[in-house]
Amino acid sequence: MPISTPKERHDHATLKFPEGFLWGAATSAHQVEGNNTNSDWWAWEKKVQPPEKQSGLAADQYNRYEEDFDLLKTFNQNAHRLSIEWARIEPKDGEFDHHEIEHYQKILKSLKDRNIQVMLTLWHFTIPQWLAEIGGWENHKAVQYFERFVSRVVPELQDNVDIWITLNEPQVLSYMGYLTGRWPPQKTNKWAAFKVTWNLAQAHKKVYKIIHKFVPNAQVGTACNIGSWDAFHHHSIREGIASYLADITQNHLFYILTGKDTHDFLGLNYYFNHYISFNGESDKWPSLVDIALTKKDVTDMGWEILPEGIFNVLMDFSDYHKPIYITENGLASTNDDRRCRYLISYLKEIYHAIQAGANVKGYFHWSLLDNFEWADGFNPRFGLVEVDYATQKRIPRPSAYVFSQIAKDNGIAHHLMRFIGHTVKAEEVLCYRHPDPKAFCGHISKAHYQ
Ligand code: BGC
Repeated sequence: MPISTPKERHDHATLKFPEGFLWGAATSAHQVEGNNTNSDWWAWEKKVQPPEKQSGLAADQYNRYEEDFDLLKTFNQNAHRLSIEWARIEPKDGEFDHHEIEHYQKILKSLKDRNIQVMLTLWHFTIPQWLAEIGGWENHKAVQYFERFVSRVVPELQDNVDIWITLNEPQVLSYMGYLTGRWPPQKTNKWAAFKVTWNLAQAHKKVYKIIHKFVPNAQVGTACNIGSWDAFHHHSIREGIASYLADITQNHLFYILTGKDTHDFLGLNYYFNHYISFNGESDKWPSLVDIALTKKDVTDMGWEILPEGIFNVLMDFSDYHKPIYITENGLASTNDDRRCRYLISYLKEIYHAIQAGANVKGYFHWSLLDNFEWADGFNPRFGLVEVDYATQKRIPRPSAYVFSQIAKDNGIAHHLMRFIGHTVKAEEVLCYRHPDPKAFCGHISKAHYQ
């Protein structure tokens, strides 16, 4: 694959991304809409979670979507990833609520009216409670129910969708809901976990065809949680083999089960780097290294910050010879200067991967807004835009301005590189280049630096 020569590089120029690159942010319905009362998560939260960890009104996007879409437009984003909520549209087995379908038609249209490309996710972790009561994704019938749902919504929504995501992170549901038991239905059963992955793979294959039946030229894929894997001790052959096997089963299994031909593109959610070692509780079996013990730089979720991980994953997945979207990437942090640094560091790696031949078509930051972070509730702050939950006020963080400039320039301006390797504050970097620094810095500092 071609790598640009030093002669072609312009060290002080903006690092330009390919023409037509999509710059957006991602959200999911249950995490932002609020009052998703017919879903399995709602029922589970009410049953087992303390009040502060229940989704409640979330970010009230069900009612505030116009305001939120104005924001993303102001910040120069040209694409948006969001999901529809199955439990709203089909609150009872076989009974579809046309009012809710119309609601989503309005939402999608209001994005298109702003000239925003729409990436729509059809399933993002939640299911209707009636389906959960008969076993959810562990029940093979869930595949047919999902087919019925998708057959119903695609013709209604297709006019305003550009890119379809069938499923979000299928293996994360099996892991969190059926292996670790941290998410509903809180099982810890390997066989159940495998069945869930299997059924989700069947569901993807079926609905891939259904979407193409209605929209022959559709772009259809999944958003998979893809981590980078490494041996903790590079000299260890067995750690090398174990990390290779982990990479196959965690990163590639879903593509093996569904077949490469049912993906028009690859949607990659990148958050994690994992190390495998034999120094865990038993030295006979490999285990994940506890990042906290390594004292590496981590996000508020305790996830390692390793920008080059996204480069490695992109180069690896380039071997599928498919277009790639980064469908999610971001960090939980209450320190927005870190978010700016994270953003620039990861985007620079994506830029280099593109230079090295990766066919990356777009980047969706997780997330547009602070939102309901599943079992962790509202404390983790992932948003480019802060949400004050007491008032539902939206307060753009400096990182929203940084991302805005990148989207506008379709690239990373050289001065933004100051974020890398420096503990600079966002306002120092932004004000330094802004035509009216005083006014601009005043604006961002009002919310964040007083
Ligand atoms: C999920 C999101 C989640 C984000 C941060 C992804 O795994 O798709 O729903 O909020 O990661 O944890």
